Amino acid sequence: MKKGKKLYEGKAKIIFASSDKNLVIQHFKDDATAFNNQKKSNIEGKGILNNRISEHILSALKDVAIENHLVKRLNMREQLIELVDIIPIEFVIRNIATGSLTKRLGIEDGTILNKPLIEFCYKNDELGDPLVAKEHIDAFEWASVIEIDYITQQCLRINDFLLGMFKGIGIKLVDFKLEFGKRKSDGKIILADEISPDTCRLWDADTEKKLDKDRFRKDLGNIIEAYQEVARRLGILHEQISNVRPIKFPKPTAVKIKKK
Ligand code: TMP
Ligand code: ASP
Repeated sequence: MKKGKKLYEGKAKIIFASSDKNLVIQHFKDDATAFNNQKKSNIEGKGILNNRISEHILSALKDVAIENHLVKRLNMREQLIELVDIIPIEFVIRNIATGSLTKRLGIEDGTILNKPLIEFCYKNDELGDPLVAKEHIDAFEWASVIEIDYITQQCLRINDFLLGMFKGIGIKLVDFKLEFGKRKSDGKIILADEISPDTCRLWDADTEKKLDKDRFRKDLGNIIEAYQEVARRLGILHEQISNVRPIKFPKPTAVKIKKK
């Protein structure tokens, strides 16, 4: 697949044209930003890990008939994706209250929600991605009511699937953000963007250790180690990933067996 000119550069990814007008190449950078671009850094190897993790998750979603933009991974940093017109809404799905929800409403951090909560944020860095209602999305024609309802259903299906997938590897899926777009070839709404530790909050099930971008947001350190841990548990780290430092495993604690 021939790589064409740069079409768009975001905070963590670049989109290039391809030789097919309906397909583009998504390149994962090592750049990390938080708080709408106010905090910036470059984390060596992050793009490689997110490319692999997102490929793994989007492929698994495709297998359970959740249509998405992924065609195939091309190399360490790039994947071939279907071109979509992104709907300018970030769909945030929450299972446990933390982050902006706790600050905004004074809900205690770590509160388990009775059912998944879906929030809509208008994708606009200058405005700080403000929370909007379904009525705003309809009024400003970012998507129709029927489209929002369809996307909401898809978000819940994706949440169900991902909750189980992460539970199986000892990770709590606290919350995550999804983006959807209208496929250029036929106008169908499909899942787009990425699903990775950049866009999810993932806590170790036993220790509640953060395995996601909160390590960067909150200056907790060991960002790459946390992303590698997610990749390792998903079973995708066996392939040599160059440019990424090895994982530091904690020393196993010796268990003494008493002789009778
Ligand atoms: P929040 O608590 O900061 O609103 O974040 C909710 C979830 O959405 C969390 O998993 C991080 C993710 N997220 C993004 O992926 N991009 C963003 O721009 C924001 C604000 C959150
Ligand atoms: N993605 C947003 C930013 O780049 C916010 C975040 O993830 O915290 O600033």
